[in-house]
Amino acid sequence: MRDQGRESVLERELALEFCRVTEAAALASARWVGKGDKEAADDAAVEAMRSVFDTVNIDGVVVIGEGEMDEAPMLYIGEKVGLGVGYPQVDVAVDPLEGTNVVAKGVTGAIAVLAVAERGCLLHAPDMYMDKLAVGPLAAGSINIDATVAENLKNVAKALHKGIADLTVVILDRPRHAGIIEQVRECGARIRLISDGDVSPAVACAFPETGVDIMMGIGGAPEGVLAAAALKCLGGEMQGRLWPENEVDIERAHKLGIDDVNKLLTMEDLVKGDDVIFAATGITESSLLEGVRYTAEGAYTHTLIMRGKTGTVRFIKAQHRFDKKPAYAIKGARV
Ligand code: FBP
Repeated sequence: MRDQGRESVLERELALEFCRVTEAAALASARWVGKGDKEAADDAAVEAMRSVFDTVNIDGVVVIGEGEMDEAPMLYIGEKVGLGVGYPQVDVAVDPLEGTNVVAKGVTGAIAVLAVAERGCLLHAPDMYMDKLAVGPLAAGSINIDATVAENLKNVAKALHKGIADLTVVILDRPRHAGIIEQVRECGARIRLISDGDVSPAVACAFPETGVDIMMGIGGAPEGVLAAAALKCLGGEMQGRLWPENEVDIERAHKLGIDDVNKLLTMEDLVKGDDVIFAATGITESSLLEGVRYTAEGAYTHTLIMRGKTGTVRFIKAQHRFDKKPAYAIKGARV
């Protein structure tokens, strides 16, 4: 049965297919947790994700991926993924390993993540920085990236029926954020500084049990689109603005069709419409997802999968048997 109202390009069955895609990437890269080799962890995730995409009923084109065609062997921008002609034409945004340093160090917060939307609906975000401000559904409509930190905290606190002192703001621990960290502290809100991986905390804003209320600061622009896709499904809000560091960045944005690099990017600019699916599997644990856990027979994974069209949010705990799994799950399993 089709969804009510306008037809959806992304049929509901696809959600489970995408869950398998991020599970594969997580299972493959989790082997590298704490081994100090972020490239190997990333390669493993990319290879596994790419191989499972080949089995999915979509005619997909990667709009956010591992880089330009000459920089990345797989999941590069413009690469076709899925079974191809005859299947739904979609944009695909991937980050097979979001938080390469996180896995290398074995700390918290790495995920394998993707977003898929109708063709032409995901912003083709250049590989550069973006200033971001994200909140969950209760605070949607109360943020303004052009307002001061104090104004945003005041308005979000009001929307959440909390005091400012009870808010938790997630910020990447970077010298460029010294100013906003100081301003948040002056307002009296709590801060959770993270070493890497700003997609997961942006999504966590929509889940009160994670204890995260706002994510702010400058991180990757591609990660901004992934987080916006999740918040679209959840009714949250993200605002962004590209943060070019030089002429090369500006040129890169122009090449992808973004003429005005100073434009405030709304939810609709980042992800058009609501025909979007978001999936993320935990690699290492976070407030949002458990990490991959090994057992005598295989491993457990924990995946968040959501569909914008219906707003259904699913957390899927899967048990994987390595004696029955394809190679990506087993590589490095017994040493
Ligand atoms: P990688 O997975 O590519 O290592 O990126 C992780 C990340 O922390 C993102 O979550 C974040 O948006 C960006 O890098 C921040 O960039 P930088 O480390 O240059 O401040």
